Amino acid sequence: MSNTLDDKAYKGLLEAIRFMYGYDFTEYAEPSARRRILHFMEIKRIDTATELGRVLMNDEHVFEEFVQTMSVTVTEMFRDPLFYKALRDAVVSQLATYPVIKIWIAGCATGQEVYSIAILLKEEGLLDRSILYATDINQHSLQLARQGIFALPAMKTYTQNYLQAGGKGAFSEYYTAKHDGALFDRSLCENVVFSPHNLATDGSFNEFQLIICRNVIMYFNQSLQNKVVDLFHQSLSAFGFLGLGDKESLMFSQHSRSFAEISLKQKIYRKVK
Ligand SMILES: C[S@@+](CC[C@H](N)C(=O)[O-])C[C@H]1O[C@@H](n2cnc3c(N)ncnc32)[C@H](O)[C@@H]1O
Repeated sequence: MSNTLDDKAYKGLLEAIRFMYGYDFTEYAEPSARRRILHFMEIKRIDTATELGRVLMNDEHVFEEFVQTMSVTVTEMFRDPLFYKALRDAVVSQLATYPVIKIWIAGCATGQEVYSIAILLKEEGLLDRSILYATDINQHSLQLARQGIFALPAMKTYTQNYLQAGGKGAFSEYYTAKHDGALFDRSLCENVVFSPHNLATDGSFNEFQLIICRNVIMYFNQSLQNKVVDLFHQSLSAFGFLGLGDKESLMFSQHSRSFAEISLKQKIYRKVK
């Protein structure tokens, strides 16, 4: 990679973006944020940070593409199946005690996680009285999530994940194959609200019994991770549950004592104070 981005240019660029568009990437973990910015410069054939700043400030469409690059969208259905198994085994019976179950899936990317949770809730007889709020900063991803059409070749892996996650039915009954896409049953997202929400800048918007935010805060620095965990703490009802990703934990969080570990391995926590 021939481009470079010194400290001053890096910070200046992110401040300018925050000022102009309100997107705050200043507290993203620097090594990976830098890598993605340099990658963007390379594909756009932009040599300097000054030039990149000029292009981003003057062209909203290029900025949208920049947001795509900054937000890593990798996801899959029943990703880390044992996480879902632990949810079924340790959390579902508690959720069942609420008349209405509110769930926030933060950083839902293209929605595979949302449909997975909906399937799990359906199999446990809880989908009808659940409301799922699925949020992300990436509008393009949210659009795909609403459509619920995923690549047909991925169904092989998704089916294996589903079975390992303790799936109780036949995975193929949840989608209809069309050309090279699998269209997921519309009834799964009847109670899903897809909406933009930026964890770095936006506040709490409801009270939830379960918040799932997997493979998102690992891209943030410690200070932003703390802020986001604080937001989750505020947004959880008493004894609400929080599920994080495989490589994430509350261990270094200022809120670590406010949560009990339900499954240390699967990163499932419960708010205790
Ligand atoms: C690697 S994906 C994880 C998707 C899914 N949660 C999973 O585990 O499969 C990370 C997602 O976090 C989103 N994201 C990044 N920064 C965010 C922010 N500040 N607020 C909300 N979502 C954010 C990205 O757009 C992306 O969709």
